[in-house]
Amino acid sequence: MNHTTNNSLKRRLITSALPYANGHIHVGHIAGAYLPADIYVRYLRSMGEKVVWVCGSDEHGAAITLRAKKEGVTPQEIVDKYHVEMQDAFRGLDISFDHYSRTSSERHHKVAQDFFLKLLKNDSFEIKTEDQYFDTEEDQFLADRYITGTCPKCGADNAYGDQCEKCGSTLSPTELINPRSTLSGSEPVLKPTTLWYLPMGRHEDWLKDYIEKGELDGEAHHNPKAWKSHVIGQCKSWIDGGLQSRAMTRDLKWGVPVPVEGAEGKVLYVWLDAPIGYITSTMEWAEKNGEDWRDWWQNSNTELLHFIGKDNIVFHCIIFPILLKEHGDYILPHQVPANEFMNLEGDKISTSRNWAVWVKEYCEEYPNGSDVMRYVLASIMPEQKDSEFTWTDFKERVNNELADVLGNFVNRVLVLTRKYYEGVVPETPASENLTDVDKKVLESLAYAPDKIADLISRHRYREAQLEAMNVARLGNKYLTEEEPWKLIKTAPARVETIMQIATQVVGNLGVVLEPFLPRTAEKIATAMGVPNACWTDASTSIIAGGTLLGELPILFTKIDDEFVEEQVAKLGNKSSNTNPNIMPQKDATTFENFTQMDIRVATVTECVPVKKADKLLQLTVDTGLDVRTVVSGIAEHFKPKEVIGRQVVLLANLEPRKIRGVESQGMVLMASRADGGLRFITPEEGVSPGDVIS
Ligand code: MF3
Ligand code: ZN
Repeated sequence: MNHTTNNSLKRRLITSALPYANGHIHVGHIAGAYLPADIYVRYLRSMGEKVVWVCGSDEHGAAITLRAKKEGVTPQEIVDKYHVEMQDAFRGLDISFDHYSRTSSERHHKVAQDFFLKLLKNDSFEIKTEDQYFDTEEDQFLADRYITGTCPKCGADNAYGDQCEKCGSTLSPTELINPRSTLSGSEPVLKPTTLWYLPMGRHEDWLKDYIEKGELDGEAHHNPKAWKSHVIGQCKSWIDGGLQSRAMTRDLKWGVPVPVEGAEGKVLYVWLDAPIGYITSTMEWAEKNGEDWRDWWQNSNTELLHFIGKDNIVFHCIIFPILLKEHGDYILPHQVPANEFMNLEGDKISTSRNWAVWVKEYCEEYPNGSDVMRYVLASIMPEQKDSEFTWTDFKERVNNELADVLGNFVNRVLVLTRKYYEGVVPETPASENLTDVDKKVLESLAYAPDKIADLISRHRYREAQLEAMNVARLGNKYLTEEEPWKLIKTAPARVETIMQIATQVVGNLGVVLEPFLPRTAEKIATAMGVPNACWTDASTSIIAGGTLLGELPILFTKIDDEFVEEQVAKLGNKSSNTNPNIMPQKDATTFENFTQMDIRVATVTECVPVKKADKLLQLTVDTGLDVRTVVSGIAEHFKPKEVIGRQVVLLANLEPRKIRGVESQGMVLMASRADGGLRFITPEEGVSPGDVIS
């Protein structure tokens, strides 16, 4: 829809958490940080408000590099892939960002570095050189997810260097008991390095006021500034526990380089660089739209709202505000409507267990399924507490609410208008002809847009959608009780009144459903002859008498039990063919073919890279029979020094072949996976070169 924007209004800058570009988007992500923002922004646009919504891919951090290592590819390859795929998923559900950026871009690196330099100039950091854990095998310092150990607070086994997921405590790597590198599994050693710390303790006082302000606003029940109680609760317990200094740099290769001389091999902490991504994204948007980005970040007439999941609360309500304040030029977040988590069919959503509904997959299977998914997710949005998605509930909501109430009502009004009046809307009835029932319906209808708007403004999207659906319920009940089909012969004038009023209800649905069900609303508004209607057009006379109504495509198709079963069966890794890492079995071969192969144990005695071939290593192997040369495509996974001395499994009688000028006499057999993962097959101890495998 095209809405004119009123320039004198205050601006609203909306952000949604930048998703890590290391995996697919699932319905839990959508219900947490994207759908609520989309509903809010669509409503504001429909009101003609000045609003910009930015997002982008979070492409740094351990989530990315660990994934890259697991798949045996570079971090850049990982983020390039998911940067595209995540946007497909968002598009599939009509998530309507104004701009979607990425943090590995040159532009973002510059913006984040400038921000860091300003903090440095403002004396915002404490620079300390101290011992940190270091993995000598991987030649890397270990922080955050790179190191695990026993939690000093609760004794849980797999606490990370930044946090224990069991008890939620924030940790630093040196607090871990029995620390281990997640990269190599080895025991790390201590080694000195320099880190830039943000002394957060300095900020406790004003932060307390800042967060309490959100709470005080909350007491005025209808105030859209009110912060959610679970958000305030988390922030308070952080501040009450005392704010520790937090390192804002890491000794890693992947990330935004620390822009200071002598800081080679250091990057910005991902939670410093990522939220600055909101700023970069706004700059890119502003450039494309002839706007000044500063109006959106550095002007007190702008409200900044962060839509996130609850695991991001501390970063958006404490750390980022501190960074913005330290910088000095920026406004602070006005509202952080964080959502809690959504579970799935009785269990936590889990990427590694494939316990998730993947958005891209869903949208590819059901290209017209966007609105029904949005509807269900908004119905069960985890606004105040965790919620649960089940496919049975999905089916019931689609069938009983969308199809039976909304679809049925809208369809009946259009069909009857066509049947009685050849599709032309009857004229507005004289008010003296209205019954009490008519007046009640018109009154409720007149009030609905404001009621829905108020709920959206206060981030109560579940109730807002319920109220929008109540407009359809109102119309459905009205038609069912007035039974125009029984009166058309005896009281045609009465039927005109009923149909006129029912038509107004449908017309309003085309407006108030738009934030929730954009495709359905568009179909309705188009059929009703008001395709560009916006929120302020909603009224009890939105459709003029004499309007010729158009065709209404089918709005919703009902779902059967088979659909539910199919969807549930996809969950989890139960069946091997749903696990993308398991390669399918090859076609049958003969025993004879098998016995022709000479597979035996060999020991690697030397290993060097092959010149001008990034993927190849040249191995010298002792086969027990002889010492020979083998070329192997494992250079992206292993360094020569990791290969020397290993016992390997060799296909010894493979025809010799020249590869990049080197004759390869055999093939080292590896365990490989569909995702590109590659490992050696190491024989048990006591096995010698020359032993035949059969
Ligand atoms: N990538 C983070 C996550 O998925 C969110 C980053 S939000 C930002 O949890 F503010 F840092 F951008
Ligand atoms: Zn713990």
